[in-house]
Amino acid sequence: MTSLRRRTASLLASSLTASLAGAVAASVLTAPPAAAKPDTLFPSMGNGGYQVRSYDVALDYEPLTNRAIATVRIRAVARKAMNRFHLDFSGPEVTAVVVDQQPAGFVRRGDELVVTPAEPLEKGRFSAVVSYDGEPPEHTDPDGSTEGWVRTTDGAVAVNEPIGAMTWLPSNNTPGDKARFTFRVSAPAGYSVVANGELVETAPHGTGTTWTWRQDEPMSTYLAMVGIGRYDVTESSTTSIDGRELPLWFFEDSAVGGARTARQVLPEVIAFCERLFGAYPFSSGGHVVDDAYVGYALETQTRPFYPPGGASTSTVVHETAHQWFGNSVTLTDWHDIWLAEGWATYAEWLWSGAHDGRTPREHFDALYARDADDDLWSPAPTEFTDPADLFGEPVYHRGAMTLVVLRREIGSRDFRRLGRKWAAKHAYGNVTTRDFERLAEKVSGERLDDLFDDWLRLDGKPKGY
Ligand code: ARG
Ligand code: ZN
Repeated sequence: MTSLRRRTASLLASSLTASLAGAVAASVLTAPPAAAKPDTLFPSMGNGGYQVRSYDVALDYEPLTNRAIATVRIRAVARKAMNRFHLDFSGPEVTAVVVDQQPAGFVRRGDELVVTPAEPLEKGRFSAVVSYDGEPPEHTDPDGSTEGWVRTTDGAVAVNEPIGAMTWLPSNNTPGDKARFTFRVSAPAGYSVVANGELVETAPHGTGTTWTWRQDEPMSTYLAMVGIGRYDVTESSTTSIDGRELPLWFFEDSAVGGARTARQVLPEVIAFCERLFGAYPFSSGGHVVDDAYVGYALETQTRPFYPPGGASTSTVVHETAHQWFGNSVTLTDWHDIWLAEGWATYAEWLWSGAHDGRTPREHFDALYARDADDDLWSPAPTEFTDPADLFGEPVYHRGAMTLVVLRREIGSRDFRRLGRKWAAKHAYGNVTTRDFERLAEKVSGERLDDLFDDWLRLDGKPKGY
Protein backbone atom coordinates (compact mmCIF):
# COMPACT_ATOMS: atom_id res chain seq x y z
CA MET A 1 0.00 0.00 0.00
CA THR A 2 2.86 2.33 0.65
CA SER A 3 5.38 3.05 -1.99
CA LEU A 4 8.57 4.71 -0.92
CA ARG A 5 10.74 6.55 -3.36
CA ARG A 6 13.60 8.71 -2.28
CA ARG A 7 14.28 11.71 -4.42
CA THR A 8 15.94 15.02 -3.96
CA ALA A 9 15.41 16.67 -7.32
CA SER A 10 12.33 17.25 -9.43
CA LEU A 11 9.10 16.59 -7.60
CA LEU A 12 6.94 17.93 -10.34
CA ALA A 13 5.26 15.00 -12.07
CA SER A 14 3.46 13.51 -9.09
CA SER A 15 2.70 16.98 -7.78
CA LEU A 16 0.34 17.62 -10.64
CA THR A 17 -1.75 14.59 -9.75
CA ALA A 18 -1.64 15.76 -6.15
CA SER A 19 -3.10 19.13 -7.06
CA LEU A 20 -5.90 17.40 -8.93
CA ALA A 21 -6.72 15.36 -5.86
CA GLY A 22 -6.76 18.60 -3.88
CA ALA A 23 -9.22 20.17 -6.28
CA VAL A 24 -11.57 17.21 -5.95
CA ALA A 25 -11.38 17.29 -2.16
CA ALA A 26 -12.02 21.05 -2.13
CA SER A 27 -15.15 20.68 -4.23
CA VAL A 28 -16.81 18.45 -1.66
CA LEU A 29 -16.25 20.73 1.32
CA THR A 30 -19.59 21.43 2.88
CA ALA A 31 -19.16 23.03 6.30
CA PRO A 32 -20.36 26.63 6.39
CA PRO A 33 -17.80 29.29 7.30
CA ALA A 34 -17.80 30.16 10.98
CA ALA A 35 -18.24 33.67 12.25
CA ALA A 36 -14.87 35.25 12.98
CA LYS A 37 -14.93 37.05 16.29
CA PRO A 38 -11.97 38.47 18.16
CA ASP A 39 -10.60 35.80 20.47
CA THR A 40 -11.24 36.23 24.20
CA LEU A 41 -7.74 35.01 25.14
CA PHE A 42 -5.94 37.22 22.61
CA PRO A 43 -8.33 40.16 22.29
CA SER A 44 -6.05 42.10 19.96
CA MET A 45 -6.02 39.24 17.43
CA GLY A 46 -8.78 38.69 14.89
CA ASN A 47 -11.09 41.12 13.23
CA GLY A 48 -14.82 40.61 12.94
CA GLY A 49 -15.65 42.86 9.97
CA TYR A 50 -14.61 40.48 7.25
CA GLN A 51 -13.92 36.86 6.45
CA VAL A 52 -10.84 35.77 4.50
CA ARG A 53 -11.34 33.35 1.62
CA SER A 54 -7.73 32.91 0.55
CA TYR A 55 -4.16 33.98 1.18
CA ASP A 56 -1.69 33.95 -1.66
CA VAL A 57 1.81 34.43 -0.29
CA ALA A 58 4.61 35.29 -2.73
CA LEU A 59 7.85 35.44 -0.75
CA ASP A 60 11.42 35.80 -1.88
CA TYR A 61 13.84 34.69 0.84
CA GLU A 62 17.55 35.26 1.35
CA PRO A 63 18.74 32.71 3.91
CA LEU A 64 22.06 34.43 4.61
CA THR A 65 20.47 37.69 5.70
CA ASN A 66 16.99 36.45 6.70
CA ARG A 67 15.48 39.03 4.40
CA ALA A 68 11.99 38.34 3.10
CA ILE A 69 10.52 40.36 0.27
CA ALA A 70 6.87 39.44 0.24
CA THR A 71 3.57 40.22 -1.38
CA VAL A 72 0.52 38.73 0.28
CA ARG A 73 -2.75 38.80 -1.62
CA ILE A 74 -5.82 38.39 0.54
CA ARG A 75 -9.23 37.72 -0.92
CA ALA A 76 -11.93 38.44 1.60
CA VAL A 77 -15.59 39.22 2.10
CA ALA A 78 -16.66 42.29 4.07
CA ARG A 79 -19.64 41.57 6.30
CA LYS A 80 -20.69 45.20 6.15
CA ALA A 81 -19.57 48.48 4.58
CA MET A 82 -16.26 49.61 6.13
CA ASN A 83 -14.12 52.76 5.90
CA ARG A 84 -11.13 50.83 7.15
CA PHE A 85 -10.15 47.41 8.42
CA HIS A 86 -7.40 45.76 10.46
CA LEU A 87 -4.98 42.97 9.72
CA ASP A 88 -2.81 41.35 12.40
CA PHE A 89 0.84 41.91 11.56
CA SER A 90 4.03 42.32 13.60
CA GLY A 91 6.41 41.74 10.67
CA PRO A 92 8.92 43.97 8.92
CA GLU A 93 8.38 47.24 7.10
CA VAL A 94 5.21 47.40 5.03
CA THR A 95 6.07 48.96 1.70
CA ALA A 96 2.63 49.11 0.09
CA VAL A 97 -1.00 48.17 0.56
CA VAL A 98 -3.36 47.95 -2.38
CA VAL A 99 -7.09 47.39 -1.96
CA ASP A 100 -9.20 46.50 -4.96
CA GLN A 101 -6.39 47.57 -7.30
CA GLN A 102 -6.01 51.02 -5.72
CA PRO A 103 -3.21 52.16 -3.39
CA ALA A 104 -4.54 52.31 0.18
CA GLY A 105 -3.48 54.21 3.29
CA PHE A 106 -2.08 52.24 6.21
CA VAL A 107 -0.66 52.74 9.71
CA ARG A 108 0.92 50.31 12.17
CA ARG A 109 -0.58 50.24 15.65
CA GLY A 110 1.08 47.63 17.84
CA ASP A 111 0.39 44.32 16.14
CA GLU A 112 -2.31 45.80 13.95
CA LEU A 113 -2.01 47.01 10.41
CA VAL A 114 -4.85 49.49 9.94
CA VAL A 115 -5.78 49.85 6.28
CA THR A 116 -7.83 52.71 4.84
CA PRO A 117 -8.91 51.96 1.26
CA ALA A 118 -9.08 54.81 -1.22
CA GLU A 119 -12.80 54.20 -1.45
CA PRO A 120 -14.81 52.80 1.47
CA LEU A 121 -15.49 49.10 1.11
CA GLU A 122 -18.96 47.93 0.41
CA LYS A 123 -20.36 44.76 1.85
CA GLY A 124 -19.08 41.83 -0.20
CA ARG A 125 -15.86 40.73 -1.83
CA PHE A 126 -12.65 42.72 -1.80
CA SER A 127 -8.96 42.07 -2.22
CA ALA A 128 -6.03 43.47 -0.26
CA VAL A 129 -2.40 43.13 -1.29
CA VAL A 130 0.21 43.81 1.37
CA SER A 131 3.89 44.08 0.48
CA TYR A 132 6.69 44.03 3.00
CA ASP A 133 10.45 43.87 3.00
CA GLY A 134 12.80 42.97 5.84
CA GLU A 135 13.49 40.41 8.56
CA PRO A 136 10.38 38.75 9.99
CA PRO A 137 10.75 38.52 13.78
CA GLU A 138 10.25 35.68 16.20
CA HIS A 139 7.45 35.92 18.71
CA THR A 140 7.77 34.94 22.36
CA ASP A 141 4.72 33.16 23.75
CA PRO A 142 3.15 33.90 27.10
CA ASP A 143 4.61 30.55 28.26
CA GLY A 144 8.09 31.70 27.25
CA SER A 145 8.49 29.53 24.17
CA THR A 146 9.32 30.80 20.71
CA GLU A 147 7.16 30.81 17.61
CA GLY A 148 6.67 32.87 14.47
CA TRP A 149 9.45 33.21 11.91
CA VAL A 150 12.24 31.19 13.52
CA ARG A 151 15.66 31.26 11.96
CA THR A 152 17.57 28.01 11.58
CA THR A 153 21.23 27.34 10.77
CA ASP A 154 20.51 27.34 7.04
CA GLY A 155 17.17 29.08 6.65
CA ALA A 156 13.99 29.58 8.60
CA VAL A 157 10.79 27.86 9.62
CA ALA A 158 7.50 29.55 10.40
CA VAL A 159 5.53 27.92 13.24
CA ASN A 160 2.48 29.85 14.39
CA GLU A 161 0.63 28.46 17.35
CA PRO A 162 -1.07 30.40 18.80
CA ILE A 163 -0.43 33.82 17.22
CA GLY A 164 3.00 33.68 15.54
CA ALA A 165 1.53 33.94 12.02
CA MET A 166 1.44 37.71 12.46
CA THR A 167 5.26 37.80 12.28
CA TRP A 168 5.22 36.97 8.56
CA LEU A 169 1.60 36.84 7.40
CA PRO A 170 -0.62 39.92 7.49
CA SER A 171 -3.82 38.10 8.36
CA ASN A 172 -7.02 37.72 10.29
CA ASN A 173 -5.05 35.83 12.89
CA THR A 174 -7.76 34.00 14.76
CA PRO A 175 -8.66 30.29 14.47
CA GLY A 176 -12.28 31.02 13.53
CA ASP A 177 -11.36 32.52 10.17
CA LYS A 178 -10.20 29.65 7.96
CA ALA A 179 -9.04 30.21 4.40
CA ARG A 180 -7.32 28.51 1.48
CA PHE A 181 -3.61 29.13 1.05
CA THR A 182 -1.13 29.31 -1.81
CA PHE A 183 2.58 29.72 -1.09
CA ARG A 184 4.99 30.77 -3.82
CA VAL A 185 8.30 30.91 -2.05
CA SER A 186 11.60 31.57 -3.79
CA ALA A 187 14.96 30.50 -2.42
CA PRO A 188 18.50 30.36 -3.81
CA ALA A 189 19.93 27.31 -5.54
CA GLY A 190 20.64 24.47 -3.11
CA TYR A 191 17.70 25.29 -0.85
CA SER A 192 14.26 23.70 -0.77
CA VAL A 193 10.96 25.11 0.40
CA VAL A 194 8.20 23.24 2.17
CA ALA A 195 4.75 24.45 3.17
CA ASN A 196 1.27 23.02 3.72
CA GLY A 197 -0.72 21.05 1.20
CA GLU A 198 0.47 19.88 -2.16
CA LEU A 199 3.46 20.89 -4.23
CA VAL A 200 2.02 22.13 -7.50
CA GLU A 201 5.05 23.57 -9.23
CA THR A 202 8.74 24.31 -9.03
CA ALA A 203 9.97 26.94 -11.47
CA PRO A 204 13.31 28.66 -12.03
CA HIS A 205 13.63 32.05 -10.37
CA GLY A 206 16.88 33.88 -11.09
CA THR A 207 19.55 31.38 -10.12
CA GLY A 208 17.21 29.75 -7.62
CA THR A 209 13.73 28.23 -7.60
CA THR A 210 10.17 29.21 -6.78
CA TRP A 211 8.25 26.48 -5.00
CA THR A 212 4.47 26.63 -5.17
CA TRP A 213 2.48 24.81 -2.51
CA ARG A 214 -1.28 24.86 -2.24
CA GLN A 215 -3.54 24.05 0.69
CA ASP A 216 -7.03 23.80 -0.74
CA GLU A 217 -8.81 22.61 2.36
CA PRO A 218 -9.60 25.48 4.73
CA MET A 219 -6.83 26.23 7.23
CA SER A 220 -6.51 28.47 10.29
CA THR A 221 -3.52 30.80 10.31
CA TYR A 222 -2.01 29.06 13.35
CA LEU A 223 -1.63 25.88 11.28
CA ALA A 224 0.19 27.46 8.35
CA MET A 225 3.85 26.52 7.96
CA VAL A 226 6.74 27.46 5.70
CA GLY A 227 10.23 25.97 5.89
CA ILE A 228 13.26 27.02 3.88
CA GLY A 229 16.58 25.24 4.15
CA ARG A 230 18.87 22.51 2.92
CA TYR A 231 16.62 19.51 3.30
CA ASP A 232 16.71 15.87 2.39
CA VAL A 233 13.44 15.39 0.60
CA THR A 234 11.60 12.09 0.63
CA GLU A 235 8.45 11.59 -1.30
CA SER A 236 6.14 8.63 -0.85
CA SER A 237 2.44 7.95 -0.70
CA THR A 238 -0.17 6.00 1.16
CA THR A 239 -3.73 4.96 0.37
CA SER A 240 -6.48 6.35 2.54
CA ILE A 241 -9.34 4.26 3.86
CA ASP A 242 -11.61 5.74 1.17
CA GLY A 243 -9.19 4.82 -1.59
CA ARG A 244 -7.44 8.13 -2.22
CA GLU A 245 -3.74 8.15 -2.95
CA LEU A 246 -2.24 10.59 -0.46
CA PRO A 247 1.16 11.98 -1.42
CA LEU A 248 3.51 12.27 1.57
CA TRP A 249 6.34 14.80 1.56
CA PHE A 250 9.07 14.67 4.17
CA PHE A 251 11.55 17.53 4.46
CA GLU A 252 14.35 16.81 6.90
CA ASP A 253 17.23 19.12 7.65
CA SER A 254 20.26 17.35 6.19
CA ALA A 255 22.37 18.18 9.21
CA VAL A 256 19.86 17.14 11.83
CA GLY A 257 18.34 13.84 10.73
CA GLY A 258 16.78 11.49 13.24
CA ALA A 259 13.34 11.46 11.69
CA ARG A 260 13.39 8.04 10.16
CA THR A 261 10.99 6.48 12.66
CA ALA A 262 8.51 9.29 12.18
CA ARG A 263 8.73 8.93 8.42
CA GLN A 264 8.35 5.18 8.36
CA VAL A 265 5.53 4.92 10.84
CA LEU A 266 3.30 7.62 9.34
CA PRO A 267 1.28 5.42 6.93
CA GLU A 268 0.47 3.01 9.75
CA VAL A 269 -0.47 5.88 12.05
CA ILE A 270 -2.75 7.43 9.44
CA ALA A 271 -4.42 4.04 8.92
CA PHE A 272 -4.84 3.62 12.69
CA CYS A 273 -6.48 7.03 13.04
CA GLU A 274 -8.70 6.42 10.01
CA ARG A 275 -10.09 3.23 11.55
CA LEU A 276 -10.99 5.21 14.65
CA PHE A 277 -12.03 8.61 13.35
CA GLY A 278 -12.92 8.15 9.67
CA ALA A 279 -11.11 9.09 6.46
CA TYR A 280 -8.04 11.31 6.68
CA PRO A 281 -9.41 14.83 6.19
CA PHE A 282 -6.72 16.23 3.88
CA SER A 283 -5.19 15.43 0.49
CA SER A 284 -1.55 14.96 1.52
CA GLY A 285 0.73 14.37 4.49
CA GLY A 286 4.36 14.24 5.56
CA HIS A 287 6.46 16.25 7.99
CA VAL A 288 9.24 18.79 8.30
CA VAL A 289 12.18 18.41 10.67
CA ASP A 290 14.37 21.43 11.21
CA ASP A 291 16.85 22.81 13.72
CA ALA A 292 14.51 25.36 15.23
CA TYR A 293 14.97 24.72 18.95
CA VAL A 294 11.47 25.67 19.99
CA GLY A 295 11.04 22.68 22.27
CA TYR A 296 7.76 21.39 20.83
CA ALA A 297 6.30 19.54 17.89
CA LEU A 298 3.47 21.19 16.02
CA GLU A 299 0.53 19.80 14.06
CA THR A 300 0.94 22.19 11.12
CA GLN A 301 -1.74 21.20 8.62
CA THR A 302 -0.87 18.13 6.52
CA ARG A 303 2.80 18.47 7.45
CA PRO A 304 3.66 18.53 11.17
CA PHE A 305 6.82 20.21 12.35
CA TYR A 306 9.31 18.29 14.47
CA PRO A 307 12.31 19.82 16.21
CA PRO A 308 15.80 18.29 16.01
CA GLY A 309 15.75 14.62 16.91
CA GLY A 310 12.55 14.01 14.99
CA ALA A 311 9.66 12.46 16.83
CA SER A 312 8.71 9.35 18.74
CA THR A 313 5.86 7.24 17.41
CA SER A 314 3.69 8.60 20.17
CA THR A 315 4.35 12.17 19.03
CA VAL A 316 3.56 11.18 15.43
CA VAL A 317 0.26 9.74 16.66
CA HIS A 318 -0.43 12.97 18.55
CA GLU A 319 0.25 15.29 15.61
CA THR A 320 -1.55 12.99 13.17
CA ALA A 321 -4.66 12.83 15.37
CA HIS A 322 -4.63 16.65 15.35
CA GLN A 323 -5.30 16.53 11.61
CA TRP A 324 -8.84 15.46 12.58
CA PHE A 325 -9.05 17.19 15.96
CA GLY A 326 -7.75 20.72 15.74
CA ASN A 327 -7.01 21.07 12.05
CA SER A 328 -10.18 19.84 10.34
CA VAL A 329 -12.42 20.37 13.37
CA THR A 330 -11.01 23.57 14.81
CA LEU A 331 -11.67 25.49 17.97
CA THR A 332 -13.21 28.92 17.56
CA ASP A 333 -11.85 30.37 20.77
CA TRP A 334 -8.54 29.38 22.37
CA HIS A 335 -10.27 28.51 25.65
CA ASP A 336 -11.57 25.39 23.88
CA ILE A 337 -8.11 24.09 22.99
CA TRP A 338 -8.74 20.92 25.03
CA LEU A 339 -10.88 19.83 22.04
CA ALA A 340 -7.61 19.56 20.11
CA GLU A 341 -5.08 18.59 22.79
CA GLY A 342 -7.39 16.31 24.77
CA TRP A 343 -8.24 14.25 21.68
CA ALA A 344 -4.65 14.16 20.42
CA THR A 345 -3.46 12.94 23.83
CA TYR A 346 -6.30 10.43 24.00
CA ALA A 347 -5.24 9.11 20.57
CA GLU A 348 -1.72 8.52 21.97
CA TRP A 349 -3.31 6.48 24.76
CA LEU A 350 -5.35 4.46 22.27
CA TRP A 351 -2.20 3.75 20.28
CA SER A 352 -0.23 2.62 23.32
CA GLY A 353 -3.14 0.43 24.47
CA ALA A 354 -3.23 -1.21 21.06
CA HIS A 355 0.55 -1.75 21.02
CA ASP A 356 1.36 -3.47 24.33
CA GLY A 357 1.51 -0.26 26.30
CA ARG A 358 -0.82 1.35 28.78
CA THR A 359 -4.50 1.47 27.88
CA PRO A 360 -6.42 4.76 28.15
CA ARG A 361 -7.89 3.44 31.38
CA GLU A 362 -4.40 2.78 32.79
CA HIS A 363 -3.23 6.24 31.78
CA PHE A 364 -6.31 7.61 33.50
CA ASP A 365 -5.74 5.66 36.70
CA ALA A 366 -2.09 6.69 36.94
CA LEU A 367 -3.05 10.35 36.59
CA TYR A 368 -6.09 10.11 38.84
CA ALA A 369 -3.83 8.83 41.61
CA ARG A 370 -2.21 12.25 41.87
CA ASP A 371 -2.84 14.38 44.95
CA ALA A 372 -5.67 16.86 45.06
CA ASP A 373 -3.22 19.77 45.12
CA ASP A 374 -1.42 18.65 41.95
CA ASP A 375 -1.22 21.19 39.11
CA LEU A 376 -3.08 18.72 36.89
CA TRP A 377 -6.34 19.75 38.55
CA SER A 378 -6.16 23.48 38.25
CA PRO A 379 -7.20 25.55 36.43
CA ALA A 380 -9.91 23.33 34.90
CA PRO A 381 -9.34 22.72 31.15
CA THR A 382 -11.60 25.46 29.78
CA GLU A 383 -11.30 27.91 32.68
CA PHE A 384 -7.77 29.28 32.42
CA THR A 385 -7.44 33.05 32.08
CA ASP A 386 -3.67 33.29 31.61
CA PRO A 387 -2.56 32.57 28.02
CA ALA A 388 0.55 30.95 29.56
CA ASP A 389 -1.77 28.05 30.55
CA LEU A 390 -2.80 27.35 26.96
CA PHE A 391 -0.50 24.34 26.71
CA GLY A 392 -0.76 23.36 30.36
CA GLU A 393 -1.25 19.89 31.78
CA PRO A 394 -4.96 20.35 32.52
CA VAL A 395 -5.60 21.00 28.80
CA TYR A 396 -3.70 17.90 27.65
CA HIS A 397 -4.11 15.36 30.45
CA ARG A 398 -7.28 16.38 32.21
CA GLY A 399 -8.69 16.98 28.71
CA ALA A 400 -7.89 13.39 27.67
CA MET A 401 -9.15 12.09 31.03
CA THR A 402 -12.47 13.79 30.27
CA LEU A 403 -12.76 11.61 27.19
CA VAL A 404 -11.97 8.46 29.20
CA VAL A 405 -14.68 9.36 31.70
CA LEU A 406 -17.11 10.12 28.90
CA ARG A 407 -16.41 6.78 27.28
CA ARG A 408 -17.00 4.99 30.55
CA GLU A 409 -20.28 6.87 30.99
CA ILE A 410 -21.78 6.40 27.51
CA GLY A 411 -20.11 3.12 26.55
CA SER A 412 -17.47 2.29 23.95
CA ARG A 413 -19.93 1.91 21.10
CA ASP A 414 -21.54 5.32 21.49
CA PHE A 415 -18.18 6.89 22.23
CA ARG A 416 -16.74 5.60 18.99
CA ARG A 417 -19.79 6.83 17.08
CA LEU A 418 -19.40 10.19 18.76
CA GLY A 419 -15.75 10.58 17.71
CA ARG A 420 -16.51 9.74 14.09
CA LYS A 421 -19.62 11.87 13.99
CA TRP A 422 -17.80 14.82 15.54
CA ALA A 423 -15.05 14.59 12.92
CA ALA A 424 -17.50 14.20 10.02
CA LYS A 425 -20.16 16.70 11.04
CA HIS A 426 -17.71 19.53 11.69
CA ALA A 427 -15.09 18.68 9.07
CA TYR A 428 -13.27 21.84 7.93
CA GLY A 429 -15.34 23.89 10.37
CA ASN A 430 -15.05 25.62 13.72
CA VAL A 431 -16.56 24.43 16.98
CA THR A 432 -17.07 25.15 20.66
CA THR A 433 -17.04 22.89 23.70
CA ARG A 434 -20.84 23.30 23.87
CA ASP A 435 -21.14 21.84 20.37
CA PHE A 436 -19.26 18.78 21.60
CA GLU A 437 -21.43 18.43 24.68
CA ARG A 438 -24.60 18.68 22.64
CA LEU A 439 -23.44 16.03 20.20
CA ALA A 440 -22.35 13.71 23.02
CA GLU A 441 -25.82 14.03 24.58
CA LYS A 442 -27.52 13.43 21.26
CA VAL A 443 -25.46 10.37 20.35
CA SER A 444 -25.80 8.79 23.79
CA GLY A 445 -29.29 9.98 24.69
CA GLU A 446 -27.92 10.85 28.13
CA ARG A 447 -27.70 14.07 30.11
CA LEU A 448 -24.05 14.84 30.55
CA ASP A 449 -23.93 18.36 31.93
CA ASP A 450 -22.69 17.29 35.37
CA LEU A 451 -19.91 15.21 33.84
CA PHE A 452 -18.69 18.07 31.65
CA ASP A 453 -19.01 20.58 34.49
CA ASP A 454 -16.98 18.36 36.80
CA TRP A 455 -14.27 17.58 34.29
CA LEU A 456 -13.96 20.71 32.21
CA ARG A 457 -15.15 23.60 34.33
CA LEU A 458 -14.82 23.01 38.05
CA ASP A 459 -11.51 23.80 39.64
CA GLY A 460 -9.87 21.01 41.65
CA LYS A 461 -9.76 17.22 41.45
CA PRO A 462 -13.07 15.81 40.20
CA LYS A 463 -14.64 13.26 42.51
CA GLY A 464 -16.53 10.07 41.93
CA TYR A 465 -15.21 8.73 38.68
N1 ARG B 1 0.08 22.04 19.67
C1 ARG B 1 1.40 21.55 19.92
C2 ARG B 1 1.25 20.08 20.23
O1 ARG B 1 0.42 19.71 21.01
C3 ARG B 1 2.11 22.26 21.02
C4 ARG B 1 2.43 23.67 20.78
C5 ARG B 1 3.16 24.30 21.93
N2 ARG B 1 3.37 25.68 21.68
C6 ARG B 1 3.82 26.55 22.54
N3 ARG B 1 3.89 27.78 22.15
N4 ARG B 1 4.13 26.20 23.76
O2 ARG B 1 1.91 19.26 19.70
ZN1 ZN C 1 -1.08 18.73 20.53
